[in-house]
Amino acid sequence: MSDETERPGAAAWVPEYDDREQGAAPGGGAAPEGGAAPEGGAAPEGGAAPAGDAAPASAPASVAALRAAAPACRGCELQQHATQVVFSAGAQTATLMLVGEQPGDREDLEGRPFVGPAGRLLADAVTKAGIDRGALYVTNAVKHFRFEERGPRRIHKTPAVGHVVACHPWLEAEVDAIAPQVILCLGATAARSVLGRTASVTRERGQLLQAPDVAARLGRDVKVLLTTHPSAVLRLRGEPTFDDAFAALVADLRLAASHLR
Ligand code: URA
Repeated sequence: MSDETERPGAAAWVPEYDDREQGAAPGGGAAPEGGAAPEGGAAPEGGAAPAGDAAPASAPASVAALRAAAPACRGCELQQHATQVVFSAGAQTATLMLVGEQPGDREDLEGRPFVGPAGRLLADAVTKAGIDRGALYVTNAVKHFRFEERGPRRIHKTPAVGHVVACHPWLEAEVDAIAPQVILCLGATAARSVLGRTASVTRERGQLLQAPDVAARLGRDVKVLLTTHPSAVLRLRGEPTFDDAFAALVADLRLAASHLR
């Protein structure tokens, strides 16, 4: 989803992840014994395991451990050009997981997801939907910014399926760690990773979607829904269709929250 129309600057709006509460090594350092990196997730260049190949862990790694391990990931080439890995925001106790596409320019610089203009729009929509930000865990299907340079500008480039597949073990491990009640996919790339198939926002938004792999991993049903990516709404700013597109995003957030127990 293009961030070309984004303006810089939005404060973090999902409560900062507190490693101290969640058992991370002091200083955010080493992964726990056995390694927190999901199989394939921190493989040598070109050596990522295909989606679904991650070995079932005896106990899920904590988000803190995953976060600490992620900078070592060499599962694809995106890490060579990005400033840093952008992991997630939100608490391990969150019940509603929002999955985006990939960090944008701002997120790449700050190291936090959804802190650019699309994030500000998403934050506004979450507020309008009446959702408690403390209930949210926010992450991306791909954890590095993919872009092309045009002069001094870095222009967003949609991640290829290979990037989504290479990064999938991380998302899978996050789902295991959070065990959310509801996952809301923001756009088709997120849906591709969560559902393991191509999905259409136009045709499938508002429906409860089958995610058998997720259900099998968690041993229970997880409600998965799909909505438009906030960047797509952002691009309509100034157009007559903007208000309706924003209202539809708010309605989908409300629908997702209505499935929380
Ligand atoms: N778009 C995304 O999908 N994720 C972010 O973190 C920022 C913009």
